Amino acid sequence: MSAAVVDLSNKVVLVTGGARGLGAAVARAVVDGGGRVVVTDVLEEEGAATAGEFGGAARFVRHDVTAESDWQAALDFTGAEFGRIDGLVNNAGTSAGQLLEHETVEHFRQVVEINLVGVFIGMKTVIPAMRAGGGGSVVNISSAAGLTGLALTAGYGASKWGVRGLSKIGAVELAEARIRVNSVHPGMTYTPMTAPVGIRTGEGNYPGAPMGRVGVP
Ligand SMILES: NC(=O)c1ccc[n+]([C@@H]2O[C@H](COP(=O)([O-])OP(=O)(O)OC[C@H]3O[C@@H](n4cnc5c(N)ncnc54)[C@H](O)[C@@H]3O)[C@@H](O)[C@H]2O)c1
Repeated sequence: MSAAVVDLSNKVVLVTGGARGLGAAVARAVVDGGGRVVVTDVLEEEGAATAGEFGGAARFVRHDVTAESDWQAALDFTGAEFGRIDGLVNNAGTSAGQLLEHETVEHFRQVVEINLVGVFIGMKTVIPAMRAGGGGSVVNISSAAGLTGLALTAGYGASKWGVRGLSKIGAVELAEARIRVNSVHPGMTYTPMTAPVGIRTGEGNYPGAPMGRVGVP
């Protein structure tokens, strides 16, 4: 299924966690819009295969969003390959949760490190390059869990609320630099993250959702 095409000609976008799922769909949308995309992920084989599908308009680089040095390397790679950066989609994330009272401190920290600290480092890393380029756009993938209280999402929900807040702070601070910052809050979407919990795709299988079904990337 293809998304509505937005004109992204001459734009260069870095998409984290782009090897599969929602990130791969975002990368495809960038290419469909005429842009060029740097797909990053810790999954090297899947990431290279996804970028490979987009031909010369895409590159892959291994990148752990929790590592500051990886961020700088990914930005440098983007500059070397495509000469600029206009967009950052902070999509990489991890899920899985426990009731709050059973959640371990270690797992809570791990989720926040990937889902929130990773987004922070990413924004911090690209801002100087976007400023130098005259502006840009940062899209942070939060979640419906970042808009309300969902059970079993202590670390996940807290991190996604944090992403929402950080996006608002960035939007206010960076408006003068012509850098837009937005958060996106998908509802349940069928991806490798959610497939293992046994959700069923198709009409009528998700009566709690307005359209009665889960989303597809
Ligand atoms: N699927 C849903 O229902 C849903 C709903 C709301 C929000 N989201 C969010 O959308 C984003 C994409 O999720 P998805 O459903 O496509 O899941 P997914 O598991 O298919 O994709 C996430 C990607 O992030 C990568 N990743 C994980 N840790 C990383 C790290 N430290 N560094 C770099 N990459 C890392 C994974 O390897 C994977 O390729 C996530 O932020 C998720 O929280 C998903």
